[in-house]
Amino acid sequence: MEKHYTNNDITVVWKPDVCIHSTLCWRSLIKVFDPRRRPWIDMDGADTEAIIAQVEKCPSGALSWHRNQSGETKPASVDVETIVEATPNGPLMVYGNIKVKDAEGNETSKHKVTAFCRCGASNNKPYCDGSHRKVDFKG
Ligand code: SF4
Ligand code: FES
Repeated sequence: MEKHYTNNDITVVWKPDVCIHSTLCWRSLIKVFDPRRRPWIDMDGADTEAIIAQVEKCPSGALSWHRNQSGETKPASVDVETIVEATPNGPLMVYGNIKVKDAEGNETSKHKVTAFCRCGASNNKPYCDGSHRKVDFKG
């Protein structure tokens, strides 16, 4: 079930079913994203731009954000060459600005980093949802 966290400017939405629970994901902004705390997202822990920058790094799409007033979601695009990296026993990481078209033809813009399932077990295809650990994927 979706969870919502709000400050004066923005609302962050978290989809726990989609989260890949990687420690790498949250540790650069621990004052806001701390999985040992309940609730684990503290919107007073940093300013809005820092929170947006961290949400944009979520590789699975579990985190998203929108402006409270306008509903706008304007991700900061990055200016880097696209890099594709197969992580050992884990997802295919794509760094850079990309458009993902799903099987129904819906397009989603992704920025910074996106994790694609390589093991076949994800319930959030084409994205990784951490299931590679449960199925002990090797490759
Ligand atoms: S997948 Fe997204 S929500 Fe889950 S820990 Fe990583 S950054 Fe956080
Ligand atoms: S690679 Fe992570 S769920 Fe498949």
